[in-house]
Amino acid sequence: MRRIVFIVVALMSIVVASVVLATSAMTAEFVGARACGKCHPAAYQVWKSSPHSRAHAVLPKGNIKDPRCMRCHGSGDLDRGAVQCEYCHGAGKYYARRHVMKDSELSRIVGLVKVTEEVCRRCHTDAAPNVQAFDRERMWGHISHGREAKTSETLGK
Ligand code: HEC
Ligand code: HEC
Ligand code: HEC
Ligand code: HEC
Repeated sequence: MRRIVFIVVALMSIVVASVVLATSAMTAEFVGARACGKCHPAAYQVWKSSPHSRAHAVLPKGNIKDPRCMRCHGSGDLDRGAVQCEYCHGAGKYYARRHVMKDSELSRIVGLVKVTEEVCRRCHTDAAPNVQAFDRERMWGHISHGREAKTSETLGK
């Protein structure tokens, strides 16, 4: 009996540890929302005032370091935490540079993700607390940002 309990506990720690490792391996390659925002100010403003920038702040006190929650709610880091740009667009370490970003193909090769509905559904599962099922059109309408950033002067030529 003891032995079974031990095995179960050991297995559970491995699961928790691998979630933590996967999350930190990914966030280690994050450049942070502010760095993206330097070149994409309009997108940054939309994100900053969206629920995704508060996703970690809504967690109850007891769960702020809970890896089970952080998988979808991010960490408490103001710049790399919550559901920051890179949770959707992919970690920016290798693509977040002007000469790379100007080349769509190259950007994708080095980590820029095409943000499809699949990406939203990694977190917006049927278990997420919402009375309405996830509807991409409606939900995207609440956080839409993009095209306009391309004409922003800060992007330069
Ligand atoms: C040094 C400036 C700079 C930084 C930093 C930067 N970008 Fe960009 N980004 C650009 C430029 C320039 C383009 C291309 C715009 C164009 O030519 O139409 C671009 C394009 C994009 C596109 C559209 C790409 C496509 O091919 O569809 C996305 C999405 C994007 N950036 C997201 C991000 C994210 C997320 C970050 C932070 C991890 C980031 N960018 C950091 C300058 C930057
Ligand atoms: C699979 C992803 C996922 C996991 C894991 C997850 N959540 Fe969430 N949670 C969501 C999503 C998505 C929403 C927003 C749902 C919506 O509004 O459509 C949400 C919303 C919430 C809200 C409501 C926030 C508000 O603004 O009212 C709370 C509170 C919350 N989650 C707590 C937790 C806690 C505590 C944990 C860990 C025990 C957790 N969640 C784990 C995805 C997740
Ligand atoms: C890494 C996890 C994650 C991903 C990926 C994600 N979300 Fe969220 N989303 C959340 C969490 C957590 C909340 C709850 C935040 C809060 O309550 O402050 C949320 C809240 C929202 C809300 C506000 C809640 C509401 O019911 O109006 C919208 C809109 C939304 N997400 C749209 C999207 C869309 C569209 C995508 C895909 C393009 C997406 N999300 C991808 C985790 C995620
Ligand atoms: C919840 C997921 C999500 C988050 C968080 C998010 N984005 Fe986006 N973003 C999208 C989607 C979806 C699109 C439109 C489809 C596409 O271009 O891939 C988009 C489009 C863009 C575009 C325009 C691409 C184009 O071709 O016009 C830029 C630039 C961009 N995002 C930058 C950012 C920056 C900077 C942040 C953080 C401050 C951010 N995004 C946060 C999902 C997200």
